[in-house]
Amino acid sequence: METKFELREQDYRYLFDNASDAMWVHDMEGSILDGNKAFEKLTGYTREELIGMNATRLLVSEEYLNLAREVRRRLLKGEALEQPYEQRLLRKDGTTRIVNMATSPVIIDGEVRGFQHVARDVTEERQLRENMYFYAQQITRAQEDERKRIARELHDEASPLLLLLIQGLDTVSTGTRPRLSESLKNSLESIRSQAINALEGLQRCAQSLRPRILDDLGLLPALEWMAEDLVKKHGIDAHVEVIGNERSLLAEVELLLFRIAQEALSNTRRHAEASRAVVKLEFGNNRIKMTVSDNGKGFELPERIGDLASVGKLGLAGMQERARLLGGSLKIESELGKGTTVAVEAPL
Ligand SMILES: Nc1ncnc2c1ncn2[C@@H]1O[C@H](COP(=O)(O)OP(=O)(O)OP(=O)(O)O)[C@@H](O)[C@H]1O
Ligand SMILES: [Mg+2]
Repeated sequence: METKFELREQDYRYLFDNASDAMWVHDMEGSILDGNKAFEKLTGYTREELIGMNATRLLVSEEYLNLAREVRRRLLKGEALEQPYEQRLLRKDGTTRIVNMATSPVIIDGEVRGFQHVARDVTEERQLRENMYFYAQQITRAQEDERKRIARELHDEASPLLLLLIQGLDTVSTGTRPRLSESLKNSLESIRSQAINALEGLQRCAQSLRPRILDDLGLLPALEWMAEDLVKKHGIDAHVEVIGNERSLLAEVELLLFRIAQEALSNTRRHAEASRAVVKLEFGNNRIKMTVSDNGKGFELPERIGDLASVGKLGLAGMQERARLLGGSLKIESELGKGTTVAVEAPL
């Protein structure tokens, strides 16, 4: 049988005191009237110290004081306010805590008499997330350095050896003395063409690890080179468009944009079954936007790109990471049967 009962004052008090989120109330002047245990823990002050203290003392700087004023203004005017919002509180020991906060007016007899707040400490969570970004960035940089090193070794060490081999074979097969039998000549010729294939493969490999065209000529020629490759080797009608005044960018920025385009076009080639692909570079005053789109079969985007990374699909996640390294953001749109667009926009 269902038993209904009413919570008594002391039951509410218990809930208030023991809630894991910090809660406090202050009057219209900011004087704190009450706070729970989590509020004591959050601020480092005791309840006795807090009561009567002006709540503005808990805000770390003018910027956050202004935020508090703005919240108050909106609440009083009944304007929209996104809640919870982020606020920074100053603890008694001088350290700062980042909190997610919700605020509402205390209304008594139809009149606003103060404000009540609920706040959750998200400082650790935030630091963890920032550390994670930091590591992801370090890994991306380390990967670039490694690619550059391998590309250089292939180019400077392995390639010359193969070239010498080819030249050696040339000398032997064109030498007049002693005359070589026709069959030996044929074998040498076939070995020579294998060596040339190997050299070309090696150069391709070095190019895709770290295209010299990017370092030597810059982003646009490198993107065009990639588009050309799609046309020639994969029969995809690909081209590059430039909008605005083309400018040269920092080498690091060019490299990151190139890597994003490289991955996007590799996805187009491998997954999209597309007949067309366009790389669009838009130069704004202080921004750059790059869009890579195809007219392929499209795909269903997962809720979080990180979910793909956990099953070993690192392309989209890598693009997102690089967009973040640029200080920008990545947007992916895909429609089944229509195609996919990857856009990155970053400040310059
Ligand atoms: N342009 C595209 N057209 C169709 N499907 C795509 C496109 N880009 C990505 N996808 C789909 O999204 C998935 C995730 O792409 P992602 O680049 O992260 O991984 P991947 O290409 O499978 O592997 P990796 O890039 O790590 O070699 C792909 O497996 C593919 O199914
Ligand atoms: Mg991929």
